[in-house]
Amino acid sequence: MTRIVVVGSINMDLVTQAARFVGPGETILGERFLTVPGGKGANQAVAAARLGAEVALVGATGNDAFGRQLRQGLAAENIDLTHTIALDDCASGTASITVANGENQIIVVPAANAHVTTAQIEQAQALIARADAVLVQMEIPLETVEATLRLGHRLGVPVILNPAPAQKLPTEWLKLARYVTPNQHELAILLGADPAEDFRLLMQHTPCPVVLTRGAEGAWYREEGDPLPQPGFKVDVVDSTGAGDTFNAALAVFLHEGLPRSVRKACAAAALSVGKLGAQGGMPELREVEALLTRTG
Ligand code: RIB
Repeated sequence: MTRIVVVGSINMDLVTQAARFVGPGETILGERFLTVPGGKGANQAVAAARLGAEVALVGATGNDAFGRQLRQGLAAENIDLTHTIALDDCASGTASITVANGENQIIVVPAANAHVTTAQIEQAQALIARADAVLVQMEIPLETVEATLRLGHRLGVPVILNPAPAQKLPTEWLKLARYVTPNQHELAILLGADPAEDFRLLMQHTPCPVVLTRGAEGAWYREEGDPLPQPGFKVDVVDSTGAGDTFNAALAVFLHEGLPRSVRKACAAAALSVGKLGAQGGMPELREVEALLTRTG
């Protein structure tokens, strides 16, 4: 069984579905409200587990009602929480999300996620050493992201850096990642480049292999040489929240099959994930991804 370690955030998502996004100073009536588990780290862990991987999550929640609910949900997905701490006197992370016409707007309050420490990474060293791949995103302290990249690199374990939410990062950090997986907007921020620059050119200047997500249009990937496209799968979109997380998880789970195949499977998994409301609501199981791939040749 593929072993994946995820280092990242755990949030309670407070999701409002509405006909459109609200403007500054405006009040509108929404259609539906949901409290559902989320957070990029937790989402990637759940997606990888549903795709059949053995998954451990390094993270933090508050020792509060949301925290208890989030941990129960993760445990029910068979995710190892040995290295996920529950902090007293600290709230769990939250994300206020508006979903309108399949698109979303998100405000994250990191809370406990701001206390995922480098010490937790050191404590998880034996676990990381046994992993086939490590996934890390940027809703936790950057020093912890750096520690994850350095440890993975030292141990020879591939680390996939999902640079979301995006910040400019030192070139040296990017060289430690096996793959970096931004969307077009994140790639420009990550490199401190002009967002209007052609993404294929930016991909050629990224100091490590890059897999670029393009939503419904699929993905582009570049190990060396020119970037190559992987078209997206046509699906009806209910909620795209968590599609990027599903993509990253699938990329990690299927990495051993080679980059082109893992990117194709990641596009298929991400397409399936947008069919239901909530980040984790539509995350597919392995058989659903295989069925989509069979149907589409
Ligand atoms: O990637 C989607 C996630 O971003 C949401 O679940 C939300 O919690 C934010 O972290």
